[in-house]
Amino acid sequence: MIAIHHTPNSFSVRWIAYCKEHNIPYKIVNAYDTDIVEQVSGCTAFMWHHHHANYKDVLFAKQLLYSLQETGKKVFPDFNTTWHFDDKVGQKYLLEAIEAPVVPSYVFYSKNDALDWIETTVFPKVFKLRGGAGSFNVRLVYSKSEARHLVNKAFRRGFLQNSGSVYIKEAYRNYCLRKGSFMNVLKGFIRLFVPTVYSRMHGREKGYVYFQDFVPNNLYDIRVIIIANKAFSIKRLCRKDDFRASGSGYIVYEKNEQDECCVQIAFEVNKRIHSQCIAYDFVYRNSEPLIVEISYGFSMYGYDKCPGYWTDDMQWHEEPFTPQDWMIEQIL
Ligand SMILES: Nc1ncnc2c1ncn2[C@@H]1O[C@H](COP(=O)(O)OP(=O)(O)O)[C@@H](O)[C@H]1O
Ligand SMILES: [Mg+2]
Repeated sequence: MIAIHHTPNSFSVRWIAYCKEHNIPYKIVNAYDTDIVEQVSGCTAFMWHHHHANYKDVLFAKQLLYSLQETGKKVFPDFNTTWHFDDKVGQKYLLEAIEAPVVPSYVFYSKNDALDWIETTVFPKVFKLRGGAGSFNVRLVYSKSEARHLVNKAFRRGFLQNSGSVYIKEAYRNYCLRKGSFMNVLKGFIRLFVPTVYSRMHGREKGYVYFQDFVPNNLYDIRVIIIANKAFSIKRLCRKDDFRASGSGYIVYEKNEQDECCVQIAFEVNKRIHSQCIAYDFVYRNSEPLIVEISYGFSMYGYDKCPGYWTDDMQWHEEPFTPQDWMIEQIL
């Protein structure tokens, strides 16, 4: 019996559909209940598509999953898959330790260390918070003085995740592109004064500062998702006049627009990370693909147009597929 925590519009929709279709016994459980461990006690597996933008999930999803994994249950996502999720600082150490091809990154836990480093390095650099998605907490820093300003803020007030000013810019951009409504722009305006529930409950990001080398001249990034021995890929184009692709909404699915070199690297690196399911995002330094970030979670609908997938022998299979089925097949 598989225990599934169900959230609308998440992977669980398709996990449940799979169980129904294949007559696999499953039970819906509620991870937020205090007796969740008891709820799953008779089950052999537990699956939860926990989300970085839900402050409750961030508080305990990993702890719950690892605890259940320790008892010998199959869990999705398991430790190797999710300990580094939504944690760019954690990913830095992991990718360095396993000697993956990665964009060089720098983290400091004291203001003086950060200020000293600023004097010795070159700009522009990319400043990021350790969490967040859709490029919300990612920006280019052009000068030492701008970097010093961010460092001072990191060790004083700190940063709100998904700040109101970024929110309104994104909502306005989407409105201009006819991808979002004017209502969202108004909501964005309100966000200037009323932070999201997540921002409020999560608190401010502070006490550390994280930068990455800026890799210039990328008009897109390549995302390769590995699940078990299979991989699929999308190309995400950058926003207009912007170096950031994630969250732009411009996605190219055609196979000949992807890069098998990235697929191969992703398979190789995942032999060392042992993740059940993981997206590797690449940008190019000259022609060398480098990993920018990794992530177990992704939007469920954004990949439905992928025309096919590779197996780890690099064979291409041109046929429709459902990534969520592969997740559950791994657990069975
Ligand atoms: N160091 C970098 N050099 C060049 N482009 C980058 C760099 N880091 C991120 N980007 C671009 O910005 C986008 C968002 O960065 P990312 O770290 O993936 O943040 P998020 O977690 O919000 O997706 C990426 O999709 C990529 O296009
Ligand atoms: Mg990203």
